[in-house]
Amino acid sequence: MQLMAVDELKEGMVLAQDVVSDAFVSIVTESTIVTHEIIAKLEKLDIEFVYVHSEMMTEEETAFSQVEPIFEKLDGKEALNYNYNKTVNKIKNIFNDLKFGVADIKSEMDGTLDPLLSGILHNNNILSSLRIMKYDDDYTLKHSLNVGLLSAMIGKWYGLNENQVADLSLAGTLHDIGKSKVPRYILNKPGELSSQEFGIAQQHAVYSYEILKESRGFSDDICEGVLYHHERFNGSGYPQGMKGKAIPLYARIIAVADVFDALTSDKVYQGKVSPFLAADILKSMSFEELDPEITNMFLKKIAEFYVGNKVLLNTGEEGEIIYLNKFSLTKPLIKIGEKFVDLSTKTDIKIKEVL
Ligand SMILES: [Fe+2]
Repeated sequence: MQLMAVDELKEGMVLAQDVVSDAFVSIVTESTIVTHEIIAKLEKLDIEFVYVHSEMMTEEETAFSQVEPIFEKLDGKEALNYNYNKTVNKIKNIFNDLKFGVADIKSEMDGTLDPLLSGILHNNNILSSLRIMKYDDDYTLKHSLNVGLLSAMIGKWYGLNENQVADLSLAGTLHDIGKSKVPRYILNKPGELSSQEFGIAQQHAVYSYEILKESRGFSDDICEGVLYHHERFNGSGYPQGMKGKAIPLYARIIAVADVFDALTSDKVYQGKVSPFLAADILKSMSFEELDPEITNMFLKKIAEFYVGNKVLLNTGEEGEIIYLNKFSLTKPLIKIGEKFVDLSTKTDIKIKEVL
């Protein structure tokens, strides 16, 4: 399989992967034989690169091929949901395989995140998409993918290159893979863990690292990003109690994504909170536990993203975010009907939900 520029495509080549648009719509499916029409369609949609198989079909094979391009009728949201669920199921298979021994994680994951990742690299923001994704299974699986995608987004905002962003998406997605070795009753326990149970649960970071090391093909940056994702900026984390920038960058980014997704997801032991309340909690953690530079950048982007969004306030009123307060990003100016409410001065009013 090789990456090829669309303007170098030739008739008879065979696509090695689904081609997905920026809006996550599947345009042409894997194994489709390239024709003039397909090249024209790809160019029209500004798709620059596709994956193709190394072997070409002969002219006769192309002419007689019954394979037709399938242009999915799914709209952007359905296609995104389809790709999202497909990927979560893949993570589920890896978790299951690991319960019985070693999984070939590298080849399982190869190219798996690409359709979702291309959305991040080109559309910039997946916050709204993540909120609408439905996956009614184990929280850990959905959380894994969300952290992978959020980490990639933060990495991109941080200025990392495409390869680093792709590495980060893998590290984020696999950060909790070691939970496959932790008993389920501990992971899903609704109440507080005993200190012995907590010790077992904490081991998952080391297990994740060991699994990736054993399965080979993952860079040191990826493995260390996974190992240290529970380290905290003030040294209060585990497994080593590292401090500040001694914690590898990928791990510091994954930590922010991990906390944010945990707060904004429905979990066994806690209801979800709005992105703005989560941002407030992250902000308070940025003074001690999370990298302040990464956290502040992330909060700024979140706040900017939600300008223009409808929100539900804790007063029961609905309003629209009009303007951000530069010094208090999580407390914007809201328009409710004809009146304006500045949340930075009305400390009793909070954003309960983004609609
Ligand atoms: Fe974790």
